[in-house]
Amino acid sequence: MADSIQLSLDGKTYQYPLVTGTEHERGIDISRLRSDTGLITLDPGYGNTGSCQSAITYIDGDKGILRYRGIPIEEFANHPNFIEVAWLLIFGRLPNKAEKDRFSDRLTGNAHLHEAMKHTFEGFPITAPPMAITSAMINTLGCFHSELYSLNDEVLLEEAAARLISKIRTIAAFTYRRVNGLPYIYADPKLRYCANFLHMMFSMPYQQHLVDQEIEDALNLIFILHADHEQNCSTSTVRMVGSSKANLFASCAAGVCALWGPLHGGANVEVLDMLEKIHAGGMTAEKYIELSKKKDNNIRLMGFGHRVYKNYDPRAKMLQSVCERVLKKLNVKDPLLDIARKLEELALKDEYFVARKLYPNVDFYSGMIMRAMGIPTNMFTVLFAIGRLPGWIAHWKEQHDDPASKIARPRQIYTGPVDRHYVPLDQR
Ligand code: CMC
Repeated sequence: MADSIQLSLDGKTYQYPLVTGTEHERGIDISRLRSDTGLITLDPGYGNTGSCQSAITYIDGDKGILRYRGIPIEEFANHPNFIEVAWLLIFGRLPNKAEKDRFSDRLTGNAHLHEAMKHTFEGFPITAPPMAITSAMINTLGCFHSELYSLNDEVLLEEAAARLISKIRTIAAFTYRRVNGLPYIYADPKLRYCANFLHMMFSMPYQQHLVDQEIEDALNLIFILHADHEQNCSTSTVRMVGSSKANLFASCAAGVCALWGPLHGGANVEVLDMLEKIHAGGMTAEKYIELSKKKDNNIRLMGFGHRVYKNYDPRAKMLQSVCERVLKKLNVKDPLLDIARKLEELALKDEYFVARKLYPNVDFYSGMIMRAMGIPTNMFTVLFAIGRLPGWIAHWKEQHDDPASKIARPRQIYTGPVDRHYVPLDQR
């Protein structure tokens, strides 16, 4: 098999090496292209551009494969422990018992926020979008832990990771309490990660919220399934910001902003909005499918389609069965679930969706589960951020540890006006 490709231009030829990954994916190393030829590549949306080499997550979008550090995502279904998965992603192997206990203790010991941060929450209007508060508070968190701006060994990195992973959960719960005018509930050291989050969300000073094991496991799995997805928009943002040597807190705060968008993490909100609109308007699933295929409106079947998966998103499959179980357990009869099932059934056999390889993605069912748990729609993407944080940290670390890493600085093809002159105001 060839190990390089040849480019011919203006009578000259240039050789560019091919790079092969452990799963035999191949790419052209064009790092010398501009210095050799003066050319750059143009790839809007970066669908054909590899920004780095990474050993964290493998996706085969055609076959519907997702693996964290080599382990198929399906193997996490019956061992839901988000903390182990977080450690695996960040440090590259499953933690042994001592490492897991140490990390868990660090998470427990870090669940509280500095009391001054509690007052910062008061500065936000109650109408503030929770993703805006979350991003702002992660950057604020950095101000309280500036000794962790420089992370030059794994001990410090583990401490920073534990602080972030533990405190984002408190930030998320306090955000919910702030926008709903509820008293803040502090973490309970006896509870595990997900149960503690639900406790901070839903307990009252006079009443502890009791968390069912099945619900705790479902939340654990939601976090695991969102934990990493290689070079998606928010992770690439974290890497982009981190490439300037910005600290981990600032880089992850930027990741939250990227995740906010409706074409990325915000899609789980859009799925629920779509289902609610269909239900409230008495529209049939058939009619909505027809509308989503037209190009003269902005309507899409939200929760369908993916830049990388051209097959069933394996996470969507897993969440579909969790969704059925959670709704049964909570005895929820949700008409939106019936609409979701019908939309899925119709789309999977519709020529438009089949031809474009549009399948349900992770957001199609996650919102239904969170809604059944009592999580309000405007908090869905915040929960996605809690889940994705270990992935962001893992990518930030991988880039930080890579001696070949450079500041990310893409080029452009300039299309603006050529050389013209300033015209004084009185002559315009
Ligand atoms: N409903 C209807 N048509 C669609 C949809 C959809 N959900 N998704 C893509 N298409 C059509 C699109 O109109 C285009 O048709 P044509 O070739 O006739 O112009 C074709 O499929 C290709 O679409 P694209 O926008 O070029 O594909 P993309 O890879 O750039 O976009 C996507 C991927 C996820 C942004 C898109 O599928 C979408 O908008 N889906 C709905 C939003 C959503 O569920 N987002 C969550 C993504 S998963 C979570 C995450 O990883 O962040």
